[in-house]
Amino acid sequence: MCGIFGCIVNEGEVAPLIHLALKRLEYRGYDSAGIATVYKGLLFLKKDSGRIDEIHEKLDLNSLPGMIGIGHTRWATHGAPNMENAHPHTDCTGKIAIAHNGIIENYIEIKKSLESKGHIFKSRTDSEVFAHLIEDNIKNNMSFEDSVKQAVKLISGSYAIAAIHADEDKILCVKNESPLIIGISDNGVFCASDIPALLPYTNRVIELFDGEMAILSLRNIKIIRIKDESIVQRYETIIDWSMDMAEKGGFPHFMLKEIYEQPRAIRDALRIDKRLINIASMLIENSDRLFLVACGTSYHACLAISYIFSELSLINAIPCIASEFLKSYAQLVDESTVVIAVSQSGETRDTLTAVKNAKMRGAQIIGVTNVIGSELARISDIYLNMQAGPEIGVAATKTYISQLTLLSLLAINFSHNYGLASENIYRRLLSELYEASVIIEKYLRRIDNEAKRIAQVIAPRENVFYLSRGINVASALEGALKLKEISYIHAEGYPAGESKHGPIALVEEGFPCIFITPTGETSVKILGNIMEMKARGAKIISITQDDAHEVKEVSDIFISIESNLSEILTPIIFSPPLQLIAYHTAILRLKDPDKPRNLAKSVTVP
Ligand code: F6R
Repeated sequence: MCGIFGCIVNEGEVAPLIHLALKRLEYRGYDSAGIATVYKGLLFLKKDSGRIDEIHEKLDLNSLPGMIGIGHTRWATHGAPNMENAHPHTDCTGKIAIAHNGIIENYIEIKKSLESKGHIFKSRTDSEVFAHLIEDNIKNNMSFEDSVKQAVKLISGSYAIAAIHADEDKILCVKNESPLIIGISDNGVFCASDIPALLPYTNRVIELFDGEMAILSLRNIKIIRIKDESIVQRYETIIDWSMDMAEKGGFPHFMLKEIYEQPRAIRDALRIDKRLINIASMLIENSDRLFLVACGTSYHACLAISYIFSELSLINAIPCIASEFLKSYAQLVDESTVVIAVSQSGETRDTLTAVKNAKMRGAQIIGVTNVIGSELARISDIYLNMQAGPEIGVAATKTYISQLTLLSLLAINFSHNYGLASENIYRRLLSELYEASVIIEKYLRRIDNEAKRIAQVIAPRENVFYLSRGINVASALEGALKLKEISYIHAEGYPAGESKHGPIALVEEGFPCIFITPTGETSVKILGNIMEMKARGAKIISITQDDAHEVKEVSDIFISIESNLSEILTPIIFSPPLQLIAYHTAILRLKDPDKPRNLAKSVTVP
């Protein structure tokens, strides 16, 4: 959940480069930050709690000397977000500094043993032990390189660590289950938690895999497998993301930019190699059980897609929140099970834990993620790349659309190959999937204004209901999650038929109820639920399609979308209005939608 960055340059100083890179990694955590550099045999360090801009204003992060350095932006797991717990962490001699992303699970016993040898700890983090372990090894006459190698052998858990030493002209990087990539340019070498941090400097990258150590210097980049110390030969790859793709491109927030990128995200998701979709379909056909496993927004995509499998193929695809998978379903998993694991980051610990458990029991894994080189991509039997480009806003928007698109494509393809969809239905649904991007492109600017009007209604309220039926129950849940996480208004999404079983007790004059109402049979049923709420004074807000005349008539405000997409594809076109409502509500309440409090973009802890 933290961002780390390191670099060595052959001209100029590194501190301003690290500072800029940390800004680009801030979405991974933003409760404290720091930079350490090496200059003339000394280590220089500046760090504090707060956001990077605040720290820079106080400490001037650019003024550290030297051509080698590492930086860190933190999302606290062990130890409060304060200056002492901010990274980089140093050893007792003040010569070694480390930046760590992940969790060292056995740090307590290591810390005790180091303390008994006289080491003094300055923080309450798990990470600091790594700096002292290196120090201890160096005291025992090991080289810096060997010290890091041996230290890694003692720790368990997840980590991406960059380490520097005042007497060395290198950065040492190790990795297990947390991301770390290496960048190379004519002016230097880099390591970073994620690609956007590298883009201002280079698009040439080398992946580092679990269990490997990279020794970065201006002379060369050496990668070794820690277990047997063998040298790894790995070629660089070129990243074709432009700088602009990882910047705001004129929008006030990344979230808004990413909402506007959704038509393209749909088209890009549909660019997937169809052979992969066919292989994934075949795996499902050969299985007896199918689970869809994910967390948060990605789980909502799974929930939606379970309806498509059921409707088009009469298949019981079981959606499951990843953190519950082990207790609820793992016992049922065997060699004839397929797990579709969905995670935009590919790093979410709960999802990975569920996948690893299922894999151990013999299941086949279809991974759906947006991050090449992520752990999910690596451990899946088949990996479907969402190709949404970087998503910087903490709240998932365009990656949700990509997930819906890719998973719909898979469910439709499966039904065509093995289920109930005739050639005609298959072709129609495929063309509707492409059409969804055109529909969104056409309505985005108009509904942006309509969403602002709805935001004015809900911004002063404390509670909002999001209601629907059928596949759009997933949209209701997702709409509520978006509102909660960025505007801090309590919101509940649930099937509209459930109101009278409890939640309706909360409804009073002016209570906002947002109904997601596709046309057809569902709208007839939802109409009754709308009337129940209206009769108790609720403010009725509808997201609907143009020909749902009755729904519009009984609504106080509505957003209407011109489309006759099949109902199973409507979650794709209903999502952007719900995201925009949340976005504008957050703005009206003066909240930063890109960096909601207490949240981070990738959740690498259980
Ligand atoms: C909400 C959001 C989270 C993520 C969840 C899973 O906007 O972004 O709920 O969906 O943390 O993350 P991934 O998809 O990376 O596994």
